[in-house]
Formats: sequence, structure tokens, C-alpha cells
Amino acid sequence: MTTTDRATTDRATTDRADADRADAELTATSVLTAADLNADPGAHRVLTGDRPTGPLHLGHYFGTLQNRVRLQDQGVEMFVLVADYQVITDRDVADRLAEHTENLVLDYLAAGLDPERATIFAHSAVPALNQLLLPFLSLVSVAELSRNPTVKDEIAHSSQAAVSGLMFTYPVHQAADILFCKADLVPVGQDQLPHLEVARTVARRFNERYPHADGSAVFPRPRALLSDAPMLLGTDGGKMSKSRGNAIPLGADEDETSRIIRGAKTDAERRITYDPTGRPEVSGLVLLAALCQDRLPEAIAEEIGDGGAAALKRTVTESVNEYFRPLRARRAELAADRGHLRQVLRAGAERANAIADATLAEVREVMGAV
Ligand code: TRP
Repeated sequence: MTTTDRATTDRATTDRADADRADAELTATSVLTAADLNADPGAHRVLTGDRPTGPLHLGHYFGTLQNRVRLQDQGVEMFVLVADYQVITDRDVADRLAEHTENLVLDYLAAGLDPERATIFAHSAVPALNQLLLPFLSLVSVAELSRNPTVKDEIAHSSQAAVSGLMFTYPVHQAADILFCKADLVPVGQDQLPHLEVARTVARRFNERYPHADGSAVFPRPRALLSDAPMLLGTDGGKMSKSRGNAIPLGADEDETSRIIRGAKTDAERRITYDPTGRPEVSGLVLLAALCQDRLPEAIAEEIGDGGAAALKRTVTESVNEYFRPLRARRAELAADRGHLRQVLRAGAERANAIADATLAEVREVMGAV
């Protein structure tokens, strides 16, 4: 075996051991439940965010927004990111970016995120965060980047003629989103787990390669905070999603809500039951009413019984409109003051920049770049 061969083999072995170790870590220690968090909420820093591609909907609300507000109110330190650079991973141009960004902030504030307690910012406004991408990219192999199942899935569903370099590297950029502020917790859905694994790998490899002089590590290894929220279905029985046109926007008014729900798909059986596998469309509607009324879906279905789809839709519409009335009133008030939304982003960026500058200084120091 030549020296080069051996080096290659060693590298492959190390990579494999590395990957195995990372997998074991992810399953063994990286997932935290809400109960673990209750022990000491103030000891955690959470980073989470969204791409500004359009208005948030009820799926976002019950899936993540409500939980973010709960975390904030528990005393967890929250960083909420508007991932504007990430919009151009799967499309050529970011359409109406400023408008979508402001509206995302609007949805956040209406849902109850408080800019006094949560840092709300756009990552394009934080140069030092973006600069972390350079050393971080050196820590992952092209093979690893192209194995990412979420990226593969996005490429398969992309309408772009060519796959850009950003599509393969944005999970590393996302690692910078998380690590710049040394967040230890990231609330995620299943599809984001591979990205969190990238962030954990980057943190571990960076710490191994560039320890502080006293041996201490620069980055904590972030953990996933898995949500136990049930997945909300859209009006066609598929996952509620802005790109599928099956969503009820958070900011929809009561008439619009009623119209959307009236058009929802149901089935021919008159008796209403809660059976998510057998009757996804009907059960999706039942679940939505249940979430709004804070009751069990079985109880809602039982109550409607032989009332059929028309009664079900009436119940869902009333429940949604009633539950979201205060949020929507707040949203309408906030929407009238665009200057305030921009001010929230400015203040968030200022705070995020101070933290990112300090982290980048630390990174450059351990790398010997000073
Ligand atoms: N990828 C996330 C989404 O599409 C948005 C995001 C960007 C994010 N950076 C992040 C989420 C960092 C959590 C942590 O919704």
C-alpha cells in the first residue's frame, strides 16, 4: 500500500467512524423533550426560523409558532431567524423579499413573540454570521453534502433547470445560523433533522480541530427539540403547505376562512369520525377544530356525529375564527405600522451582530487568523 493509499484509507475509516459517532450522538443525546426543558428553561438558548417565502398558516401556528411563544414565556432565550438568503436555494430569485420578510415578522408578533424577549433578525443583515460559512465548509466533505436526504428531496422536487452550489451548501449555512449565537436547542420537524446533524458535526469537528489554548471548546453541540404537535393537514388532505395551495393563512379574515374551509375535501360517509389513516381529509378538519377548542379530536367527532360534512365545516370555521380572533385583531393593528416591523428587525440585527462579531473574533483567534 502506498502512503497516499494509506492516507486515503485512513481518511475513509475516520470519516466512517466519524459518521457512526455522529449518528449515535444524534439518537442518544440530541433529542430533548419539553419535560427535560422544564427543569431549567433559563439555561437554554433556542434558535429557530423560517424562509420568507409567503404568509404563515395554521400549520405553522400549531406546528411551531405556538411552541416558540410557549418557550419564550417559560423564560428560554429565543433567537428567531428570517432566513432570507435561504430563499434562493430552490428558486432563482427571491420574489418580493422585503414584503415577505416584514410579513413574517408581522406573523411572529401577532402570534405572541415579544421583540423585547426574543431576538428577531434576518441573517443577511449579520455579516459575521455569514462569514462563519467559510471555515465551516472546510469541515464537511462533498460526499456528505450530497448524501443529505432533505437536500436530495428538495432537488427532486425543484423546478429549477440546474442545481446550484447553494442547494448543497445551505445546510452548512444553517449550521452558521445556529452556531453563531451558540444556541443549544433547535426546535425541528423530522425533515430538518439531517440539517441539525450537519450543525452538530460542524461544531464537533471545529472544536476538535481548533480548541482554545486551554483545551475548551468554542461551540456547544446543538440538540433537536422535537415537537409533539400533530401534523395539520391542508384542505386537500395533504400536509398543509403554502406551495400546495391548501393552507389557511394566519392572517386570513373570517370570510376568507369560511370560504377556504367550505372548499375543503371530505368524503361520502355521513357519520363524522376521527380516523387519521382511514379518513385523512375529515380527520384533518376534526383535528383543526380540536386544536382550536383545546379538546380531543374524538370528542369533536362524537359531538358532530351524523351531522355530516356540512356541520363539520361549520364547527371548524367557527372554532378557527373564534380562536384566531384576538391574534388577527393584533395582526391588523401591527400591519398598519410597517415602520415598527422594520424597527424590530433593526433592533434584532443589532443584537445578533454584536453576538456574531464576538463569535467570529473567537473563531479567528483559535484559527490563528489574528
Ligand atoms: N430551513 C428552515 C426552513 O426551511 C429555515 C431555517 C434556516 C432554520 N436556518 C435555520 C431553521 C436554522 C432552524 C435553524 O424552515
